[in-house]
Amino acid sequence: MRRPLREGVGSATTPAVTRFPDRYAAAFSSTERRRAIAASPQASREYAESFLPEDEPLLAARARGEQVGAPPLAPISGATLCFLAASISARHVVEIGTGAGVSGLWLIRGMAPDGVLTTIDVEPEHQRLARRSFTEAGIPANRIRLITGAALEVLPRLTDGAYDLVFGDAEKTEYGDYLTEALRLLRPGGVVVFDNALWHDRVADTGNRDSATVAVRALGAAVRDDDRLVSVLLPIGDGLLAAVKRS
Ligand SMILES: C[S@@+](CC[C@H](N)C(=O)[O-])C[C@H]1O[C@@H](n2cnc3c(N)ncnc32)[C@H](O)[C@@H]1O
Repeated sequence: MRRPLREGVGSATTPAVTRFPDRYAAAFSSTERRRAIAASPQASREYAESFLPEDEPLLAARARGEQVGAPPLAPISGATLCFLAASISARHVVEIGTGAGVSGLWLIRGMAPDGVLTTIDVEPEHQRLARRSFTEAGIPANRIRLITGAALEVLPRLTDGAYDLVFGDAEKTEYGDYLTEALRLLRPGGVVVFDNALWHDRVADTGNRDSATVAVRALGAAVRDDDRLVSVLLPIGDGLLAAVKRS
């Protein structure tokens, strides 16, 4: 017979996976414990988040990014970038904020086999690490165009309508300007994506008025309210905002 969940172990409002103290573990068979854990929304979220685990090159790139203060996007957000790039057979992609190469690796793995990733970062050291990440993952050098510089100085030099996908993940207060540039760079049917669209849960807190939060919140509204775009805000990782530029 299946025992009911004990109070404090898990209920409709308290996810069992986070409320399953070790001291109770012995009282449950492993099957019961699995059922209790599997019944929680938190467990489902964790299952989805680990559905596509990162391999060695991605994990090594992630460690480098964390070490130098260039926090990589969440694995599930990377998998979504990869999916989006593959869904439009992206050949020309711009990334704003290379970091140590985690998002770049996810992107390039989704792109067409001859696709080229143009990736911009203001920090030469981050790009050196990213180059190492791409090399370790076996990505041919001619598929990556690393441009060192401030995004708002580099982006205006790139060609109008020549890109299939633009991904923004650099200075949050500049996100509105990245959107303007992205709309110019994208071909009709192209896709723009931003990471940190929920910005550590601050965006949803309407009382929060710090400059980065205000900028990310304004970006969401601008994307949502633009008739040229079909958009979605995905509550994965730190929030992924994506939009297709209508044909
Ligand atoms: C969050 S990290 C990028 C992480 C990377 N997308 C990944 O997932 O591995 C942000 C990066 O943006 C770069 N950055 C910050 N401000 C910038 C700017 N104004 N122009 C270009 N790069 C900038 C930082 O040097 C840092 O490497």
